[in-house]
Amino acid sequence: MSDFLNKVVVVTGGSEGIGKALVELFLSKGARVATCARNYDKLYQLQANYSGRTLHVFGADVSKQSDCENFINSVINTYGTIDVLINNAGISMRAEFKDTDIETIRQVMDINFWGTVYCTKYAINEIIKNKGTIVGVTSIAGFRGLPGRSGYSASKFAITGWLEALRTELLDAGVNVMWIAPGFTASNIRNVALNKDAMPQGETPMDEGKMMTSEECAEHIFNAVLKRKRSLVLTFTGKQTVFMNKFFPLWADKLTRKFFYKEGKLVK
Ligand SMILES: NC(=O)c1ccc[n+]([C@@H]2O[C@H](COP(=O)([O-])OP(=O)(O)OC[C@H]3O[C@@H](n4cnc5c(N)ncnc54)[C@H](OP(=O)(O)O)[C@@H]3O)[C@@H](O)[C@H]2O)c1
Repeated sequence: MSDFLNKVVVVTGGSEGIGKALVELFLSKGARVATCARNYDKLYQLQANYSGRTLHVFGADVSKQSDCENFINSVINTYGTIDVLINNAGISMRAEFKDTDIETIRQVMDINFWGTVYCTKYAINEIIKNKGTIVGVTSIAGFRGLPGRSGYSASKFAITGWLEALRTELLDAGVNVMWIAPGFTASNIRNVALNKDAMPQGETPMDEGKMMTSEECAEHIFNAVLKRKRSLVLTFTGKQTVFMNKFFPLWADKLTRKFFYKEGKLVK
């Protein structure tokens, strides 16, 4: 019997990519799943695809505190409680800071960091009651600042520090607080990443076909939640980057620069 049978699992940002794969995986394990995103049509389509399963969908923008409150309350009204909250909804950016409108960084912080804080705030009492799990889907950019992604890195570092503090506060409550850093994973994230003017860049500068799939990433996250891990770094390149940055930071600066730049221009 699945460990997640009838458990209530909330995944923010379930209409695309890693979040959608997580929704599908937890449904297949018999969990009662809830998800939100801004694009209700995509959520509705997802629900239609899983009409025989327990899937609650809700249109919400996690950068808005009231949307998060309404979403989490709708989950509690529908299922009665929450066991697992996976703060997955996120957005990236690509532009050097000197050219970037502050609005780009503000939107990235509002969605990634504040969205995580808001959803956790409204779910925390139910999770404490159930000795459940709070997850932050962070990034390698939350261990190592990445050029062209200064706001994204800031948001992911902020989430990690915030979750580490929360983890310590909740140690005796039996709640597991964890953060998971995917490496490059094929999804929509680069297409909708904000450019210097806070508009979706509408392209990916990388070969998505060579990346880990969202489904594989979701499997890793699922297993980490099951084993109540503290943190997880994914992909060989991701692990290598975190290791290099910890022990050889000057070298990591140069290698990171080389990866993202060509002839002085940011190309990735
Ligand atoms: N893919 C990677 O290479 C990679 C690497 C490291 C970390 N991550 C992290 O993994 C998480 C999932 O990313 P992904 O790659 O699956 O990206 P994705 O394919 O672009 O999916 C992002 C999901 O988040 C939702 N979302 C975005 N902004 C939102 C908002 N304001 N309110 C509610 N939902 C919102 C999107 O739906 P709507 O647009 O409809 O709102 C979508 O469902 C993110 O936190 C990302 O930072 C991804």
